[in-house]
Amino acid sequence: MKKLLINKIGFISTIGFAVVTAFTIASCVASQKVASKSGAQLWAENCQHCHNTPAPGSFSGDQWETIGMHMQTRALITESERNKIVEFLQAAR
Ligand code: HEC
Repeated sequence: MKKLLINKIGFISTIGFAVVTAFTIASCVASQKVASKSGAQLWAENCQHCHNTPAPGSFSGDQWETIGMHMQTRALITESERNKIVEFLQAAR
């Protein structure tokens, strides 16, 4: 009986470990997906839900830099996402 209980605990902790490992791997895959997104993709996904997006030619490269800083806090994106978006907009002018 005692042995059975120990086996059960062993089994449950193995399952627990497997679940935690699976979640850890899944979350790494998710962040790699974000890292592999292009500036154009990030811009399309993050910059259109509050306003119509102005054409890249509407602002100078420096102005996009400033706009990027303001809009980063609004769009709740990371600094690296913002840099990618700003580089995309500057290159597309
Ligand atoms: C949560 C809503 C929201 C999101 C998301 C958002 N913006 Fe804005 N944006 C605004 C508001 C509000 C204004 C006008 C007030 C201001 O300039 O702060 C604005 C203004 C602008 C302007 C005009 C600035 C000017 O000086 O005329 C540009 C260009 C712009 N946003 C670009 C972007 C880009 C690029 C992104 C994506 C990184 C973005 N926005 C994401 C709300 C948002």
